Amino acid sequence: MAPSGTRTLAHSPTAAGSGGLPGMKSNDPCWCGSGRKYKRCHRGTEGRVLEGRVSPMLTVPAGIAATEYYATGEVARTDEPMVKSAETIAAMRVAGRLAAEVLAVAGAAVAPGVTTDDLDRVAHQAYIDRGMFPSTLNYHGYPKSICTSVNEVICHGIPDDRPLQDGDIVNIDVTGFIGGVHGDCNATFCVGDVDEQSRSLVEATRECRELGIAAVRPGRPISDIGKAIQGHAEACGYSVVRMFVGHGIGRQFHMSPSVPHYYAREASTILEPGMTFTVEPMINIGTWREKMWGNGWTAVTADGSRSAQFEHTLVVTDTGVEVLTPEAAA
Ligand code: MF3
Ligand code: CO
Ligand code: CO
Repeated sequence: MAPSGTRTLAHSPTAAGSGGLPGMKSNDPCWCGSGRKYKRCHRGTEGRVLEGRVSPMLTVPAGIAATEYYATGEVARTDEPMVKSAETIAAMRVAGRLAAEVLAVAGAAVAPGVTTDDLDRVAHQAYIDRGMFPSTLNYHGYPKSICTSVNEVICHGIPDDRPLQDGDIVNIDVTGFIGGVHGDCNATFCVGDVDEQSRSLVEATRECRELGIAAVRPGRPISDIGKAIQGHAEACGYSVVRMFVGHGIGRQFHMSPSVPHYYAREASTILEPGMTFTVEPMINIGTWREKMWGNGWTAVTADGSRSAQFEHTLVVTDTGVEVLTPEAAA
């Protein structure tokens, strides 16, 4: 991605509405062992996803062509056109198909007790097996090969040592580079036994992506996509994240156009055959507003409500749209 009302902590097994761990008193030493008072340490965070430990960056065999930014972490903008050549689109079809395979492999590894770092390692090997370079590695300094966004994490969760828990939802976002182009896709997976409210969110979010894609037609403005997504999300009682949007993609990971997932009059660019971009709505149970973690990457919902996301890379065709990251079997 390029950058309401009342709720209950329905997903917090240990938290009461007021955010306390039953039995812990404010001035008790915190359960985490920090030595600080509970009220100055973990009170209010029960049931929330916390920052974990991030393992060292993995390496890629020298035979796999790296992105131009991998060495430095600095991303150079080029004047790549929004409408791609037939050769670029053909290369993106390959990159997209392989990225979708990596997503299926990583998704198949989702289970209670598996850490998001385990998922990163599985995905990292799956890219290598296919001759792909993980696009996110050192992208503006990003340290991992996928993003893993659990529960109230909206996007750009960094894989760490947190084991997935029964009842979690986790989005895995895979972007791979091969043949000089990127393929970008993601999906939200349920961990073990997930409550009905979260399963409905995940299903509605997938529907939002499909409706957004179905709105893609040459001659129509980009804003049609967000209009379709927002209409469905809000009819289901959910909100649409505004801070992160879909993006043009090709030889560059992120480029023009921006693709808002809400109705934005200013998204007036007319869709033309050969344009390639992502549709990747992030849909929340509560507020659309986000907060950022101190790591500078990870966005969480401002109210702690859960968030789901699905992403495809697309190309506009003469008559409609082609999905370049079709769902693969693991
Ligand atoms: N794959 C994400 C997207 O859909 C971007 C991740 S960039 C990273 O655009 F640096 F955070 F990994
Ligand atoms: Co994307
Ligand atoms: Co992505």
